[in-house]
Amino acid sequence: RTAPGVTWLGTPISKLRRMPECGGKLPPLKDVPDQHTVMIRTDLLGKCKVPIPYPATFLDTWDDVHVKMPCSNGNLFPVDDEVKLEVFSHEAVLNYSASHARKWDFTALDVTVTPIPLLKRGMSHSITMSQEQVACLLANAFFCTFPRRNSRKTEYCNYPDINFFRLFEGSSSRKIEKLKTLMCYFKSVTEQKPTGLVTFSRQRLDKPPNWKSSPTLLTRLHITSEGTIEDDGYGMLQVDFANKFVGGGVIGAGLVQEEIRFLINPELIVSRLFTEALDDDECLIITGSQQFSKYTGYSQTYRWAGCHHDTTPRDDWRRRCTEVVAIDALQFRNFLEQFHPDKINRELNKAYCGFSHSEKESQNLAAVATGNWGCGVFGGDTRLKALIQMLAAAEAGRDVAYFTFGDNQLMTDVHNMHSFLTQRNISVGEAYDLLQQYYSSVCENCLRRRPDVSLYSFIYGQVGSSEAPDESSRGSAGQRSPT
Ligand code: AR6
Repeated sequence: RTAPGVTWLGTPISKLRRMPECGGKLPPLKDVPDQHTVMIRTDLLGKCKVPIPYPATFLDTWDDVHVKMPCSNGNLFPVDDEVKLEVFSHEAVLNYSASHARKWDFTALDVTVTPIPLLKRGMSHSITMSQEQVACLLANAFFCTFPRRNSRKTEYCNYPDINFFRLFEGSSSRKIEKLKTLMCYFKSVTEQKPTGLVTFSRQRLDKPPNWKSSPTLLTRLHITSEGTIEDDGYGMLQVDFANKFVGGGVIGAGLVQEEIRFLINPELIVSRLFTEALDDDECLIITGSQQFSKYTGYSQTYRWAGCHHDTTPRDDWRRRCTEVVAIDALQFRNFLEQFHPDKINRELNKAYCGFSHSEKESQNLAAVATGNWGCGVFGGDTRLKALIQMLAAAEAGRDVAYFTFGDNQLMTDVHNMHSFLTQRNISVGEAYDLLQQYYSSVCENCLRRRPDVSLYSFIYGQVGSSEAPDESSRGSAGQRSPT
């Protein structure tokens, strides 16, 4: 059993790397065709307080590789399916503010944003824009002005919703709290223009690692039952327990880890405008988003708890040193399914895609701040997922800060497993092999809903240590010397 009062185990969190301290120098920010779209004047970045949009005048594009903009000349004729909703949302918006309706035009949008490429399936591409541009886009999303985005049947069917109309449906307290959280953002950015930049990078895994033959050893683990990814993982690579439609139900009904993060850091929501559903070997990394709200509770008990003053330092590109990686786990309805080698490969590659950063040396990489990825709404097994994430992080050369979200037993069990594997120098490849053996010896022919032997007991048994505890006996494998 975990000794009373013990709230963390493993490497002290102060020993793990964080940005900006660990990062190397950034190359100068510049637009690179087909790789990085930069929507501001980089030559003036050091000279002006609020970044200047580039190009200076609106370039109208109405095609299938850019976001269709409300201010575009192409936005005159709604397509059939959309007419009703488009009219509905327009009326609704006008009703909210009838006195302003006649005065509205889109001039501000004209001067504030430039063609935004769609981040489509299979693309590795980044977009950097100013926080002001993000705010302008989100204001449009709030007023539901993005064309072709009100019906799931259009060309954007494989994209998340962006227009906020679902947010205004119903009167549940969850919706009210969501609105309060977003209003706090709009109030803040209209009272004082934010001056930084945000980068959205869609990243595809070129070549999955050869897990079976990987000689890589595990990296360090800090595991704690207290704290959260966003508060205690500052400066680390923070995992968003995502939906393949990034942001999940943020503007609809959802209110768990991903949705809460998108609400308190609303700039994340803009990724929904241009990010097509993530494939199995893809992730989205958002660097520079700012936290505007505090919250208490979770899901049903979620409450907006006031404005947050974000003091996170900025990097050389004027981005807050907050890196969030959206990786979507698989949803499991049947417990045994997740141990199938195909599913394990998929989850390993997904996590690795999120954690790996090919251009950087390990000493420049911040730790991964994560937790029960895929184990809430998506029904995964925490002990399996913790191990998968440890293997992926090791392969990517990053340490792990794991937040168990109040689960003391999980903290002890994962710590013990990590210590057991590291003390015996068990490589990523060997651990991967143990996962496969577990499937073929325990899961494959299992007739019950759950396996008779737990994964960790199996690993302890298989590695053949007579002293190995199983996780229910709550031993302290971590404290024993290697056998
Ligand atoms: N820090 C650390 N751990 C947390 C935090 C936090 N801030 N919040 C929650 N947890 P879940 P999933 C723990 O269900 O299963 C969304 O709708 C807590 O133990 O959000 O991957 C997405 O859009 C919680 O039970 O992630 C997807 O559609 C666990 O993390 C779907 O949910 C899992 O959180 C993803 O579901």
